[in-house]
Amino acid sequence: MNTTAQLARHGLFDARVPRYTSYPTAPQFAGGVDGDRFASWLGAVPEGGQVSLYIHVPFCRRLCWFCACRTQGTSSDAPVRAYLDVLKAEIALLGRHLAPGVRLSRMHWGGGTPTLMDAAMIAELAAAVEAVVPMVPGAEFSVEIDPNELDDTRLDALAAAGMTRASIGVQDFDPVIQKAIGRDQSYEITARAAETIRARGIESLNADILFGLPHQSLDRISSSVQKLLSLSPDRVALYGYAHVPWMAKRQSLLPTDDLPTPEQRLALFETARRLFAWDGFGEIGIDHFARPGDGLARAQAEGRLRRNFQGYTDDGATALIGLGASSISRFPQGYAQNASATSAYIRDIRDGKFATARGHVFSKEDKWRGRMIEQLMCEFRCDTSAITSLGARESWVRSVLAGLAAHFDDATRLTPQGLQILPEARPLTRVIARAVDAYHLSGAGHSSAI
Ligand SMILES: C[S@@+](CC[C@H](N)C(=O)[O-])C[C@H]1O[C@@H](n2cnc3c(N)ncnc32)[C@H](O)[C@@H]1O
Ligand code: SF4
Repeated sequence: MNTTAQLARHGLFDARVPRYTSYPTAPQFAGGVDGDRFASWLGAVPEGGQVSLYIHVPFCRRLCWFCACRTQGTSSDAPVRAYLDVLKAEIALLGRHLAPGVRLSRMHWGGGTPTLMDAAMIAELAAAVEAVVPMVPGAEFSVEIDPNELDDTRLDALAAAGMTRASIGVQDFDPVIQKAIGRDQSYEITARAAETIRARGIESLNADILFGLPHQSLDRISSSVQKLLSLSPDRVALYGYAHVPWMAKRQSLLPTDDLPTPEQRLALFETARRLFAWDGFGEIGIDHFARPGDGLARAQAEGRLRRNFQGYTDDGATALIGLGASSISRFPQGYAQNASATSAYIRDIRDGKFATARGHVFSKEDKWRGRMIEQLMCEFRCDTSAITSLGARESWVRSVLAGLAAHFDDATRLTPQGLQILPEARPLTRVIARAVDAYHLSGAGHSSAI
């Protein structure tokens, strides 16, 4: 199983498949989860327990054409300031529902562009969180940073707030590609961001780059990866560009005739993957790379790698609380998502209530299938014992795995422990995971399988 034709036979080049950062995936969330249910899940976090926090800042100074993130452009600080006040109200509301002594083991600020907040706003948001859920010693605090929206004062404020991991958006260094995707960002600006971040003693530098962009060739992606390597990141996410103009209208500005074919996307991914491997990065799941000492690499080695909305994580907390417009929370009981429209989110919080608009309550089978998918995505295998330990009958697990093995006969192997995806079939991982997905989503809304 190593030919393009065999990958094609399983639909790699024409399938649209979720990235499985959750199970069920967000399009399956429905109205049955409201603010009351969210509050009851919050209240069930035990006294003295630990939680993780995700805070979404849905604003950007510029709107890059390729971007599918939930964000909006703003040229002034006023909407950001108003939004920060609402976030602070949401944090205070959270504090009224959490049991005493709950602490924070992880925090991630994403967006959008959290560094649109100025230094004072950054300090204010960090202090508001600390007052309600203080960080445990050694907690990880990561922030998504657009290198174009960064200066020394904001970086000082992030460092003072305890940021341990900075995640910079690179996408591609090639000027022709940057022009085609509406994102102008010189190598010098990115290198300066990396340097200033390191100069603050921030422990870890992450970078996002993309394959499958218009005009991207093997030479161009090699050159961009080498430029990125010259900045010595600790961790890299190599995402496949998701072209979903029906969801992100601004993507219709991209020259679609110049997008690579699915077969070319696979070659672009492979080229970048080999360069990272040659440079000593470990491969983490389907699209991440990490230096050997990095937390993700350690988690992988110790079988602790997990999947969440940020991709791969070594976060073991059972509750991830999402704050801000469109943010998703995960509890042992299910998912809860805030209103997607910033205006609706603001209205609810100003009315003094949670902004939960939809979600999903886990059935037993959701938990079993979700863990199967997570294990496939993290470890390219599924162990029967990992699922029976959640209460599933062994015969049920074995029959699901046997079904996978029969369908993906040249891509998987049944073992005494469970099922393995063969190394050369790893590009099919999401396609295989989809076969475990009981909700069998239609293709709409999801990105290409490679
Ligand atoms: C919130 S954004 C980046 C943070 C920051 N605003 C920046 O621009 O650097 C997070 C990441 O999502 C990824 N992303 C955005 N749109 C994407 C798409 N259409 N397909 C794949 N990845 C995408 C990009 O790699 C991006 O760096
Ligand atoms: S890539 Fe970053 S800066 Fe560009 S639109 Fe998306 S979130 Fe905003």
